[in-house]
Amino acid sequence: MAEEQNISQNISQNLIQAPRGMRDILPRVQKNWHFVFSRAHRAAQMGGFEEISTPILESENIFVRAVGEASDIVTKEMFVIEEKKEEDAECKEASGKCQRLVLRPEGTAGIMRAYIEHGMQTRPQPLKLYYLGPMFRHDRPQAGRFRQFWQFGLEILGDGGSVTDAELIALVYKYFQMIGLPDVTFAVNSIGAPECCRQKYINRLVDFLEPRKVDLAEEDRKRLKTNPLRVLDSKDPGTVAALEGAPMILDYLCEVCQSQFKEVLEYLDELGIPYDLNPKLVRGLDYYTRTTFEIIRKEDKSGQGSLGGGGRYDGLGQLLGGQPISAVGAAIGLDRVIHALLEQKAEISDQALRPQVFVVGIGSLAKRIALKVEQELWNQDVAVATALGKASIRSQLKSASRIEVPFALIIGQREALDGTIILRDMRDGLQDTILYKNYLQKLLAKLTKTK
Ligand code: HAM
Repeated sequence: MAEEQNISQNISQNLIQAPRGMRDILPRVQKNWHFVFSRAHRAAQMGGFEEISTPILESENIFVRAVGEASDIVTKEMFVIEEKKEEDAECKEASGKCQRLVLRPEGTAGIMRAYIEHGMQTRPQPLKLYYLGPMFRHDRPQAGRFRQFWQFGLEILGDGGSVTDAELIALVYKYFQMIGLPDVTFAVNSIGAPECCRQKYINRLVDFLEPRKVDLAEEDRKRLKTNPLRVLDSKDPGTVAALEGAPMILDYLCEVCQSQFKEVLEYLDELGIPYDLNPKLVRGLDYYTRTTFEIIRKEDKSGQGSLGGGGRYDGLGQLLGGQPISAVGAAIGLDRVIHALLEQKAEISDQALRPQVFVVGIGSLAKRIALKVEQELWNQDVAVATALGKASIRSQLKSASRIEVPFALIIGQREALDGTIILRDMRDGLQDTILYKNYLQKLLAKLTKTK
């Protein structure tokens, strides 16, 4: 670690670095990622979810339609990758019109696209799908906010029941327990459905804010026109003050939305899942209907923001040109999850295969034998390290000590000619010269003892 820091301090201005807001995940921290990924697979599969992977590039259109034309994601945060020109023959032939591609800023819209495209409605419903992958948002990098970040997403498609909302939240909570972060709570709200109560509420909110417009931040004045609900989660002190006494959506829910939300809360109570009502929680993506939630740490000391978020999105199927499809889902931000784990000094064990044997070979014949030995060890599922390009036994063995490998197999020029091999215990320096034909059996016996 120290070595990597020193090197990065010495990076000259001329060297190309990783793009702003994007990070290399170096070998020493890979175990953290393996840990959160492996628990994610386990939790999702325990809940009966099947894994799905969709392209990192998607047509810009699906996010304009799904996330919303006036959303921050679409207006400011999309990485546009390719703009197909009108004269591009291939593009014209394929669809008759040209599409812009973007790096996906989130996973839900792509999952819904895939669900419709592959006719997954014909499979037994609900369909429970999960995904793990990088997402991209061209936001200003800051604590917990990257331009490339990883999400673990869970989506239940083809089911409109409030029990499903609770089931999904329960599985998300289970995941946090499984990784050793049980100290989370859910901020929950219902934003009603657009076809019944939401518009009535929006009208009330606009009526309330119009006379207070001068007190709103400039950005929020714009939102009042384009996306009034979003004014509710503004952090600007002027806007926050102007919102004092504003009408709250929970008071405007129609009977159906209200009873659906009440049921969700009752299920959560029964399951003992911690939550707080947050009537201002509207979320930054337009596709939500009714239940919305965010996962927050009870004590967020480092101001990383929510660990995840989600909600119901019954209108998304139609927005993407399909039939009405009831759906609910959540995505967990794994960069923030790992930060939280490290902050609470969680013990994360390293599951990676570590080399057990270092193979040393000096001279061309010995190197040929060393390669064969390496292959034989792989065939026995033994992880091997080498530094065969180094000229002396000493320098190769120095590498072996540095990576703390328990055994070395040394083939010098003499051993290569004699048909022998030296088996050295790197921990006490004791070594034996044995016949080549016996080395594998002896080594495997020692490795079994070491385990
Ligand atoms: P979201 O709230 O935009 O929802 O993102 C979910 C989580 O991803 C956030 O709570 C946060 O942990 C993480 N996240 C978002 N942006 C960043 C960033 N710039 N840097 C680091 N982490 C970030 C969605 O994406 C929805 N697709 C969730 C969903 C699934 N709704 C229904 N199904």
